[in-house]
Amino acid sequence: MSIGFDLLNRAFTFYSPTRIIFGIDSISRLPDELKKFDFKKALLVSGPKVSKTKEYSLVKQLASQAGADLSEFTMVEAEPDIPILNSLAGFVRKWQPEIVLGVGGGSSMDFSKLASALSVNEKEPSSYFRGEKIAKKGPPIITIPTLAGTGSEVTPISVVVDNGVKRAIFNTALYPSLTVVDPRLSCSADPGATSSAGIDALCHALESMMSVDSNPISDSLSSTAIGLACAYLERAYCNGGDLEARVGLSAASLMAGMAFQATGLCLPHGIAYTYATKCSLPHGSSVSLAVPYVAIFNAPAIPRKTRIIASAMGIDTSGASPIEAGFEIASRMFDIMDTLSLPQTLDDLGINESELESMVDDLLTNHYRFVEKNPRKPSRDELLNLYMDMHEGL
Ligand SMILES: [Fe+2]
Repeated sequence: MSIGFDLLNRAFTFYSPTRIIFGIDSISRLPDELKKFDFKKALLVSGPKVSKTKEYSLVKQLASQAGADLSEFTMVEAEPDIPILNSLAGFVRKWQPEIVLGVGGGSSMDFSKLASALSVNEKEPSSYFRGEKIAKKGPPIITIPTLAGTGSEVTPISVVVDNGVKRAIFNTALYPSLTVVDPRLSCSADPGATSSAGIDALCHALESMMSVDSNPISDSLSSTAIGLACAYLERAYCNGGDLEARVGLSAASLMAGMAFQATGLCLPHGIAYTYATKCSLPHGSSVSLAVPYVAIFNAPAIPRKTRIIASAMGIDTSGASPIEAGFEIASRMFDIMDTLSLPQTLDDLGINESELESMVDDLLTNHYRFVEKNPRKPSRDELLNLYMDMHEGL
C-alpha cells in the first residue's frame, strides 16, 4: 500500500473536539450528560416543524429532568435568513442562556451555535458573516440531530441566507461541546428530507476525499462514510422505519462531517451555491446534481483517490483508466439519484442555457474558496463546459 498523500511535502492538522455519544436510544443519557455542565438556564433551538414532533418533545422532557430553567426558540426555518438571525440575537441577548441545545436538522443545529455566539458578542448579527471577529466564546453547545446528513452536529460551521446569497461562518467558538446522535430520532423524517440531507453526507465525504487538503485521517473517515451512505441512504429513503439504515446513515453523516470540517469542500458545493437559492432547491439535492460531473472532471488529476472512492462505493475498477473510473462513480451517483427522485441536470431545474455564463461568474466571484480546494483547477472555459454538461446531462 502506498501512502499516496503528499505528506513528504506538507503537514496537516486534524481537530475535532466534539464529544460524541452515538447509538440507538442514546438520547436517554441526556439528563445525566447535561448535569456534567454548570448551568441553570438552557435554551432549545429548533424549527417550527421539528418543535411539533414527538422526538422534540422527548428531548425537551429529558432536558427538563436536568433541572434547568428551559426556554425555546423554534423559529429556525429551512435555509434561515437574516431576519431569523436577528430574532435569535434579540432573544439570546435578553435571556442569556448558559447552555444551548440545537435539536433538528442542519439549520437548527447551525443556529444553536449562533445562539451561543450571539449571546455574548454584541455586534450586528449579520456582520459576523462578513468578517467581523467572534471575540468571545459563548455557552456550551449541544447538538441533537433528528435528521442525518449535514454533519452540523460536529462542525464549527453555521450558514445563513443573506439576500439570496448563502454565507457561512467557520469558527472554533462554534464547535459543539457534545453531540448525542440517536438514530431512532431520525426515523420519522419524511422521504424528501431524508434524501436531500442524506445525499449531502455522501457529497461531503466525496468532496472531502477529493479536497487538496485531505489527509490520512479524513480519508479514512470519508471512505467509511461513502460506503455507509451508499449502503443505507436508499434503504432509509424507501423505508423510514428501517432502523439499521438510519444507524448507517447517521454514522455516515457524523463521519463525513468530521472529515470535511478538517479538509473543506470543493467544486460541487461551490457550483451548487450558484443555483440552489435561485431554484429553491434543498441543499443536498443541489450539491448532488454537480457531483457526477465533477467526479469525471477531477478523475485525471486524482487517479488514486478516484479508485479509492469507486472502491468505497462498491465499484470494481480493476483495468479501468482514471476517467473510466470517474464515469463509474458518476453512474453509481445517478443510480442513487434515480432511486431518490433527485434532479440530474440543470435543465431539470428549469435553468436556461443563457444563464450558465453568469453562474460561472458567480462561482468565480463569490464562491472561489471551493474552487481553491478542488484538485483540478478549472479555467473559466472549462467551468463553462462543465455547466453545459450539467445542463444537458451525460
Ligand atoms: Fe453540504
